[in-house]
This record gives sequence, C-alpha cells and structure tokens, in this order.
Amino acid sequence: MKNILITGGAGFIGSHVVRLFVKKYPEYHIINLDKLTYAGNLANLKDIENEPNYTFVKADICDYERMTELFQQYDIDGVIHLAAESHVDRSIKDPFTFARTNVMGTLSLLQAAKLHWNGDWNGKRFYHISTDEVYGALELTNPEGIEPPFTTTASSGEHHLAYGADFFYETTKYDPHSPYSASKASSDHFVRAYHDTYGMPTIITNCSNNYGPYQFPEKLIPLFINNIRQQKPLPVYGKGENVRDWLYVEDHARAIDVIFHNGKVADTYNIGGFNEWKNIDLIKVIIKTVDRLLGNPEGHSLGLITYVTDRAGHDLRYAIDSTKLQRELGWEPSLQFEEGIEKTVRWYLDNQEWMDNITSGEYEKYYEEMYKVQI
Ligand code: NAD
Ligand code: DAU
Repeated sequence: MKNILITGGAGFIGSHVVRLFVKKYPEYHIINLDKLTYAGNLANLKDIENEPNYTFVKADICDYERMTELFQQYDIDGVIHLAAESHVDRSIKDPFTFARTNVMGTLSLLQAAKLHWNGDWNGKRFYHISTDEVYGALELTNPEGIEPPFTTTASSGEHHLAYGADFFYETTKYDPHSPYSASKASSDHFVRAYHDTYGMPTIITNCSNNYGPYQFPEKLIPLFINNIRQQKPLPVYGKGENVRDWLYVEDHARAIDVIFHNGKVADTYNIGGFNEWKNIDLIKVIIKTVDRLLGNPEGHSLGLITYVTDRAGHDLRYAIDSTKLQRELGWEPSLQFEEGIEKTVRWYLDNQEWMDNITSGEYEKYYEEMYKVQI
C-alpha cells in the first residue's frame, strides 16, 4: 500500500492525474488535497469520488501545521504537487497571492515532508509539477529565409512544425518574466534545494500548455469555446502572433504517471507536444470546429474576433523539446492535435452545465471587471 498525496487535485490537470491514479492503482491510497479556490471544482471528480482508495481533504498548502498533521495522519510516501495559482493574467493583477501559494505553499509542503520522512528517503518521492514558462520566451526566428512554421527535426529524429530555431531544453537557463512564472521558478529552486541540502528524493517536470476537459474558462481554449457558444467577443491579445505548444491533458497525466514511477531522482524532464500554434491560427481552428459542431455555416463566428490590449510582458513563443522524456522513459503524446481539439470542443459543448455553473455568479463579475477596459 502506498499513500500518495496529490495536491491541487480538484483543478484542471490535477483532476486528470487523480482520476488516472485512482483507477490505475487500486492498491494505492490517493489523498487529494485542495483548498478549493475559484479554480478548484469537485464536480471534476464526480465519477471517482466514492472509490475506496480515494480521500478528499480540503486544506491550504500554506497551512504548515495542517500539512504536518496530514503527513502523519495518512503516512504519506509520495507527493505529486500541482496545487498552485495558475493564471498569468491574475498574477499580473495580484502577485502576492502567487508568491504565497506557489512559493510559500510549496515550501510548507517540502518542510512537512522532510519532517515526516525524517531522513528515511527509502521509497519516498516529492514530485513538483512545473511549467515551461520558467524558461522565459523564445524568438520567432526565420532560419534561411523560410517563413514559419517550417519543418524541423528534434534530436529524437522526429519531424515537426516550428516557429523558431530554438527550443526549451532541460538545460535552458531560468528566465521567468511574469509574476506567475517567477513564483513557479522560485518554487522549483526550493524543490531542488531540498534535494541538494537534505537529500530529499525530488523530481521536477516543466510542461507546455495543456488543453482538454475541465479547464477553467479563464484560459484561452475553454474561454473561447464558451464565448463562441454564447456569441460573445473573443479577446485576442495583441496581434494574436504569440506561439504556444499545446499538449492534451491526459497525455500530461500519463507522463506524470511514468515519471513519478520511473523518473530519476533529482532530475528534470520537459513535457511537451511538439505542437506549436500561433494564437490566431489556433483560434481559427477553434471557431471552425465549434461552428461545425453547432451546425453554423463555416466562418459564422469569425466576426467575434476582437483584438484587445496585449498582456503585459506577454511571452512571444514557448516551445518545449521533450526528447529526453521520450528517449529515457519512452513517453510520447498519444493524441494528434486535430483529434484532441475535436474531443475537447465536443466535451465543452456536451457539458454546458459544468461550464454554466462556473460562469454564473462571482466569476461572471470577475470576467467583466477583467476585460471591460480592454474589449
Ligand atoms: P488550476 O488553476 O486548474 O488548478 C489549481 C488547483 O490548485 C485548484 O484546484 C486550486 O483549488 C488548488 N489550489 C490553489 N491554491 C491552493 C492552496 N493554497 N492550497 C491547496 N490547493 C490550492 O491549475 P492547472 O492548470 O490544473 O495547473 C496545475 C499545476 O500544473 C500548476 O502547478 C501549474 O503551474 C502547472 N502547469 C499547468 C499548465 C497548464 O497548461 N495548465 C502547464 C504546465 C504546468
Ligand atoms: O505554458 C504553460 C502555461 O500555460 C501554464 O504554466 C499556465 O498555468 C497556463 O495558464 C498556460 O499559460 P498561458 O498564459 O500560455 O495560457 P492562456 O490560456 O492564459 O493563454 C494562451 C495564449 O492565449 C497566450 O499567448 C495569451 C493568449 N490569450 C489568452 C486569453 C485568456 C488571448 O489572446 N486572449 C485571452 O483571452
């Protein structure tokens, strides 16, 4: 029996990780610890909430006393730490909350784990889920005059489309720009420090943009699907030229499973889809897919595109090289983007109640406040 603490399990990625572990490992006890902030939603886990190997605990990772009690109460062997404030725009408005949760919260968990494990690291693991945003931003380069996207070859030998010649590798120097990425970089440094100073068996992964079911509709893809459904404006930051590398969330959850069990202690792995999209092109794919599935004529919702003031410090391009993970642990994305985006749009259209429960009330007010100046 292993007792695994998953933090942030009521959020977007966390709920997929909890579901995977609860179903795949009946011999483990999965303890999902979540504060249930605006982003935490137990409706994301309805299908597994009564499983015998699953326990939900509502708690704040910053509450160190509570964390020490929980490690003892459940005799935790492994931690998969996802709890965080995760939205860049919110971090620009309210950096303190990001420092508190992402930095102090991670430190509080590390210290509680250290106290409980008391130097006996055998069979123990502290796995921190981080982001590619810690590496900063890449350029949209144009090698040999070829207009991006152009075909490039990763060191794995795999061909894919890219918007620049550079990529984020595990060796890339940290260079965070937003309060969100600064807080995640800081928490990564604390995790490494606990390995280097005390010998704690830690692992860190840095992943690219996730998409799929249960993502909070402040993030680009669910926000735009919902706005198209309601024929509301689609606020495109700047010129829509920023590039992101998209990975289906269940592929991220599978990578977490593989790395939690087989990853090398003290190591770092990049997780990404080799799937770069310029925002405006991605947005057109979303519009096309939603219109098709709603039975609207092609191009019906293109007029909703509204160019708004750019995000402050908006990173131009993220592109992950996940060759190391593919080579060393045999993981690779299972879904092609076309299939993933189709599944995702269908899920949001089929689960309008899930969305409407979130977008009514408080969030509606926040959204109007957030975007009223820009639109
Ligand atoms: P999310 O915002 O959907 O979920 C975060 C969860 O953490 C929520 O359930 C929330 O209630 C919980 N939480 C927040 N503060 C807490 C606290 N003080 N104590 C306990 N629980 C708290 O986030 P997500 O998109 O699922 O991201 C999960 C993790 O993965 C984060 O650490 C994020 O930095 C990282 N990540 C996300 C992406 C992405 O594309 N979404 C990519 C790479 C890495
Ligand atoms: O790269 C990993 C990161 O991806 C994670 O660490 C973050 O937690 C996650 O939120 C995500 O960050 P982004 O800022 O890239 O995601 P977001 O969905 O907010 O924005 C995606 C792109 O779309 C970005 O270039 C900003 C742009 N955008 C976003 C919103 C919400 C718009 O143009 N309009 C919008 O309304």
